[in-house]
Amino acid sequence: MFSRFGHPRMAELLLFKDLEKKGYGNVSKLFPRNSRKIAATLFVGVLLFGGLVTAGVTYYATPKYTRVGYAPYQPVPFSHKIHAGQLGLDCTYCHTNVFESPHANIPSPQVCMNCHDPMKGNIKGDSPLLAPVRDAYKTGQPLQWVRVHKLPDYVYFNHQVHVNRGVSCVSCHGRIDEMETVTHQEPLSMSWCLDCHRNPDPHLRPTETVTKLDWDPLKDWSVSALTQFTDSQKSFAAKLKEHSGVAPPTNCTTCHR
Ligand code: HEC
Ligand code: HEC
Ligand code: HEC
Ligand code: HEC
Ligand code: HEC
Repeated sequence: MFSRFGHPRMAELLLFKDLEKKGYGNVSKLFPRNSRKIAATLFVGVLLFGGLVTAGVTYYATPKYTRVGYAPYQPVPFSHKIHAGQLGLDCTYCHTNVFESPHANIPSPQVCMNCHDPMKGNIKGDSPLLAPVRDAYKTGQPLQWVRVHKLPDYVYFNHQVHVNRGVSCVSCHGRIDEMETVTHQEPLSMSWCLDCHRNPDPHLRPTETVTKLDWDPLKDWSVSALTQFTDSQKSFAAKLKEHSGVAPPTNCTTCHR
């Protein structure tokens, strides 16, 4: 805007002349050239810093980030520790869809009744804790389980893709088989997704071990035909990437479509 006065310094002088005329004293001496530059730098600095703080607070204080540790009260105190841990039921006994569908299903009361049906004289068939399961089974109404993990609607996620590529439930849900109540373990934030998409190697394993949450690559390496030519998790990851081209995309439309 000052360019019509020619040299920018000229414009400043004209401006200060104007102020001086209005009785503000010798303004141009009050603000030597350098100090105005410093002031401008400071101003931009403060703006940037403020922007970063706002961005940081918005980012880290979003509900998803703070959901770590979230464990809602459920209608039935279902324990993964008993069922997946002690009884050793595979995840797919109940979450039957997880390898074939974008969504992991929650089992119907029918599945629970395989073991807890009083008519069949089954385990804890008369337990008051299981009354909601028996009612739901009788009425055909689903149990009102409270969702623990929930991404915003504008994010696309897909279970099938991950588990078939050798990413274990444990990478994203933690040791569910040791939990009395399912707890939110990972932030499920965008940077969390991207961290793994940029470097999935430490999370890749043979597909048949995906639901074995206690699987230890150092102890149980040679479980799979896939691994027989490799000697470590690292070399396995390299081989897998080479042969089946595992390369998680990082472009925006992967997760926002
Ligand atoms: C006997 C059936 C059964 C088995 C086996 C089982 N689950 Fe579940 N799972 C459930 C039920 C019922 C719920 C809903 C209640 C709850 O959240 O605890 C659930 C909930 C979950 C959730 C939370 C869903 C949400 O709301 O976000 C995750 C994650 C999960 N299971 C993972 C696993 C993994 C991993 C395994 C294998 C190690 C497994 N489950 C084995 C029955 C089962
Ligand atoms: C494969 C058999 C099996 C299946 C399927 C199964 N359970 Fe169980 N459940 C057990 C066993 C075994 C116990 C432990 C009983 C004990 O403590 O003696 C148990 C215990 C329980 C208890 C504690 C009961 C009490 O009074 O202490 C609850 C609640 C429960 N299960 C809920 C469920 C729900 C909900 C489902 C379906 C999502 C389910 N179970 C599916 C075998 C099963
Ligand atoms: C790459 C990360 C990742 C892996 C691996 C993963 N999950 Fe999930 N899981 C998620 C996310 C993210 C959600 C929330 C999805 C949403 O809100 O759409 C979720 C939700 C769930 C739910 C709730 C129902 C649903 O689909 O939203 C269940 C049950 C579940 N997972 C079970 C499992 C089991 C069992 C395995 C292993 C066989 C597994 N998950 C592997 C990230 C993962
Ligand atoms: C622990 C590692 C890991 C985490 C965490 C993870 N991913 Fe992935 N993701 C992968 C791998 C591995 C693939 C498979 C890439 C391939 O097939 O080449 C993949 C593939 C995908 C795909 C399919 C891409 C395509 O078009 O084939 C989507 C969508 C996706 N991830 C979304 C997500 C979202 C959303 C999150 C966070 C909520 C997430 N992922 C967290 C490892 C991860
Ligand atoms: C691997 C999956 C993935 C990719 C790739 C990805 N996002 Fe996201 N994005 C997410 C998830 C998950 C969330 C939700 C985060 C949350 O709830 O805290 C999100 C949230 C967002 C938000 C909302 C932020 C907020 O705080 O509300 C914006 C904006 C966004 N993404 C833009 C982008 C852009 C632009 C790109 C490409 C440069 C991109 N995303 C790539 C997974 C992804």
